[in-house]
Amino acid sequence: MKLLKKHEAAIKRVHDDSWDFSGANTKYCTHGMHTYPAMMIPQIAKRLIDEYGNDAEVMLDPFMGTGTSLVEAKIHHNFKYAYGVDINPLARLVAKVKTYPISIEKLEHSFRELRNNIDNEKLEIHFQGKKIEKPSFFNINFWFKPEVIEDLAIIKKYIWELQNTDIKDFYKVCFSETVRNVSNTRNREFKLYKMNEKQLEKHNPNTIQEFYKQVQKNLISMKDLIANDKNAKIKILNEDSRYKLSVPDDSVDLILTSPPYGDSLTTVAYGQFSRLSLQWLGFDYKEEVRDIDKICLGGIKTRSLEHTTKSPTLDLIINQIAEYDNNRAKDVLSFYEDLFKCILEFKRVMKKNGILCFVVGNRTVKRINIPTDVIMVELFQSSGNYEHIKTIIRNIPSKRMPKANSPTNVKGTTVTTMNHEYIVILQIK
Ligand SMILES: C[S@@+](CC[C@H](N)C(=O)[O-])C[C@H]1O[C@@H](n2cnc3c(N)ncnc32)[C@H](O)[C@@H]1O
Repeated sequence: MKLLKKHEAAIKRVHDDSWDFSGANTKYCTHGMHTYPAMMIPQIAKRLIDEYGNDAEVMLDPFMGTGTSLVEAKIHHNFKYAYGVDINPLARLVAKVKTYPISIEKLEHSFRELRNNIDNEKLEIHFQGKKIEKPSFFNINFWFKPEVIEDLAIIKKYIWELQNTDIKDFYKVCFSETVRNVSNTRNREFKLYKMNEKQLEKHNPNTIQEFYKQVQKNLISMKDLIANDKNAKIKILNEDSRYKLSVPDDSVDLILTSPPYGDSLTTVAYGQFSRLSLQWLGFDYKEEVRDIDKICLGGIKTRSLEHTTKSPTLDLIINQIAEYDNNRAKDVLSFYEDLFKCILEFKRVMKKNGILCFVVGNRTVKRINIPTDVIMVELFQSSGNYEHIKTIIRNIPSKRMPKANSPTNVKGTTVTTMNHEYIVILQIK
């Protein structure tokens, strides 16, 4: 423990409440278009760009999620390009729509048509007994009531008839959020848990109205994007940040990102969160949906505790966890080994003197707090000439993420894992 404190003390960390942004509106522009786990708050992305990326022309977010940092790059004055990478197809769809201005006139026109088609079809089903073809996928009847399935099928049918891909994508995002809101899942949770009988009895959503509500909300967001767009070109990559990315060598001025907190299976299950939406959106379950959590960082356990990454803090932590549970130590190690692969790739794409900003959370495993911010600095410094500018510690007022988890995987026993976030800022020399 003493040794760990020594490693932590060697890193420049400053508590700074001015990064809390308590009570700030985090849904402006297109930021409120679709929920996603562990979203970065836009105020952090904006301030990091203002303070560290004012002359930057090229930005990369290698774990973009639904693109908070890309939206900020799009509405900031100086960026020519911003690349966003994510292995989750739902994240890529939402990030695209959030950063892709579409004419409001065209959207309003298509919405009028869509509405007419949906309302007419509903009437024909109701009064003339018309049949609608319903999708069938694994467990659909478990997660959706029959009347909800019918309404989602009608909405989907008419979105899929639209010819313009960008307009279609806009509605797919509205549809995806609707799917979440009308499903039988317990609301406001990212993992898939079904409502109990009592909750299910009261759960009679008006699916079509919910969809219209999403469209109207997102139309306002789109107007905001158009009004503030500074024209950066956004490139969304369906790639894995552990491997070589389609980003040229020495081209990136600023990396701004919030990586996962740990392996998806035991921290934030991005795949599970996205599953119902992706199934309704027609993604192939086996090929594109089922294994998302496995292909996220740390998804595959390492075979042994031998490793080549050079972080003394990581060594200490792995040994401590292994004393309680060898398997959990392997889970933890696999995450940092994957992160290290990404760090090597970042080195290839960064311009000299470029800045890297990582918003990370320090999770707890087996009651042992893992100082990811410290480990990251050590991993970067072991891989190249990086100056650690500083690490800012902020309080998390309201971020949607697990604040408590089970320390021993015993149901009902929880410890607080994350009340702070660490913004690690480095410069490559
Ligand atoms: C903390 S979330 C990012 C949230 C984002 N900042 C936002 O505001 O929406 C981390 C993201 O990393 C993605 N991810 C995990 N492993 C990845 C990998 N190997 N390559 C690219 N993306 C990955 C996950 O799918 C997830 O969307």
